[in-house]
This record gives sequence, C-alpha cells and structure tokens, in this order.
Amino acid sequence: VSTIGVLTSGGDAPGMNAAIRSVVRTAIARGIKVMGIRKGYNGLLAGDVFEMDTRSVSDIIQRGGTILQTARCLEFVKPEGQKRGADMCRVFGIDGLVVIGGDGSFQGAEKLANLGINTIGVPGTIDLDIACTEYTIGFDTAVNTAMDAINKIRDTSTSHQRCSIVEVMGRNAGYIALWCAINSGAEMVLLPEMPRPSDEEIVKKIIENKHKGKKHFLIVVAEGVGGSEKLAKTIEDMTGIETRATILGHLQRGGSPTAVDRMHASMMGAKAVDLLCEGKAKRVVAYVKGEYVDYDINEALKMKKELDPYMYSLTDILC
Ligand code: F6P
Repeated sequence: VSTIGVLTSGGDAPGMNAAIRSVVRTAIARGIKVMGIRKGYNGLLAGDVFEMDTRSVSDIIQRGGTILQTARCLEFVKPEGQKRGADMCRVFGIDGLVVIGGDGSFQGAEKLANLGINTIGVPGTIDLDIACTEYTIGFDTAVNTAMDAINKIRDTSTSHQRCSIVEVMGRNAGYIALWCAINSGAEMVLLPEMPRPSDEEIVKKIIENKHKGKKHFLIVVAEGVGGSEKLAKTIEDMTGIETRATILGHLQRGGSPTAVDRMHASMMGAKAVDLLCEGKAKRVVAYVKGEYVDYDINEALKMKKELDPYMYSLTDILC
C-alpha cells in the first residue's frame, strides 16, 4: 500500500483516539501516507478527507471520543453507496483503509474490500459484542465509568435504605452489565442472554435480603433487557420499598481511556497497518488468548460469542 485511509464509524468508544494515533504513526514510520476521513463512511462519501502527519495526532491519546468524529451511515448499507465509497477511495489515492468500529462498520469494510480497496477492521465498541475478539476498544473505560457511577448510587441507596436499579449500555449484549454487577457487588443482574426472573422472584429476593439486614438492594439491568422505570414502579408497589431507576446512558461512552484501552488501541492500530503492509486485506484485528491475531471479515462476522457461563454462575454467589 502507498496511502492508508483511517476512519471511525458507529458509536464512539474511549480509546478510538489512541487507535487513530497508532495507525497514523505506524503508517508514517513505514513510509506510508495517511489520509484521515471524518464522520465515518459519511465523510468518505462527502470527500471529507485530509492528509495526516505525526503532529495531527499529538495530545490525543488521553482524550475520549474520536478526533475524526463518527457516524452511522445509512447510505453505505446500499450497493450504490458502497461503490461510490470505493470510487472516493480511488479519488484520494487510498489503497488501504483502516476502519475502527463495530460489526456494522465491518460489514461496510467487507463490501469495500470486495470492490478492490484493502480494508482492515479494528474492533472499537464499549459493548464487547464482537465475536472474534476477547477485547474491544472502549470496554474497560466504559465499565470503570459505569462502576464509578454505581458506587455513588449505592451510597445514597444505602443512606435511604432504597432499592436502586441501574441500567447500563451494551445494546443486545450483557458484558457491561455483568462486569458492573460483579465488580460493584450488586444484589442482582438482568442480562439479555439469560432468562429474566419474574417480578415475583425479584421481589422475593429483595425481601429476603431485607430480612438479612441488608440496607439497600442494587439491581444492574442491561440495556438489552431494559424496562428499568417500569421495574422500579413494580418493586415499589409490591414491596413498599422506595425504588429509584437510573439509566446511565451516554456518560458511559465518554471520558479519558484507561491504560487497558490505550494499550489495546495502540497495539491493534499498529497491527492493522502491519497487515496492510503484508499485503493482507479484508481482515479484522482481534485479541485472543493474550495475542493480537487477525481473521477474515466474513468469517469474523459469522462467529458467535457467549457470555462466560462460569462468570455468570458466580453472580448467584457474589451478587
Ligand atoms: O454500541 C455502543 C452503544 O453505546 C450501545 O451500547 C448503545 O445501544 C448504542 O451505542 C447507543 O447508540 P446512540 O449513541 O446512537 O444512541
């Protein structure tokens, strides 16, 4: 490759900047020109493309969000959009493209690869829901942010002897919720991957805990289960215990990335460039059993991921 494009796509995630920085600096160190593409595939279609140098990525490793900005691009789902995207790459001389994002973004990358642009995906999402990899950039920061918020909610919940329901992000995956529940000492966790206990079962556990002398009851609800406000009302009606629901929302997507996120982002960004230098295309970078590896995008998109059943089983003991 002679010119690499880099874009971030889909929901932003802390650590995306560290990944961009790594792509830019690794490429330049290998003698390759780098073009930044703003606002994901939208920016590619609009020609919002600019040359980057090592200074373009100064002072960003510690910043949340993405300096390239991001978007979910509907036009790119259609074949005409994809063809125009490949044409735009050619206009800017981009013969290799690094796409930092989630599964949806990789589908676009796969299509571009079929149209002759060498693409490499780098997993960036707080949800940890990309099947081929044990880590996705942003997860650790998001969990730490949510955990910190839950600690604070727990303080006030204990003072008022309330039941607190905290809903965390994750789309259809329960990883953020499971990690938050175990690491916050929550009393219960509701995950989309697991059968939801009935309202009666939930209330029974709350009352048992009250009898044991517990001063609060904390339930972590995954976004994929939802219904936190409704559940709060049901619990309050059935038990008489004051119950509050907090939906943490987008605060989980921001903030300075943790060391874990910066390191994975730096390694994965560099690996993506090195794969392009080796002449590889249509690959996704992944972290598996302590190593950075790569998979064919199609193969990666077909993989299925399961919550660790042992980790989940511990919620019965620890939560
Ligand atoms: O994929 C990241 C994520 O934050 C999910 O957890 C959530 O479901 C979704 O994005 C929210 O999307 P938006 O920012 O478009 O509201």
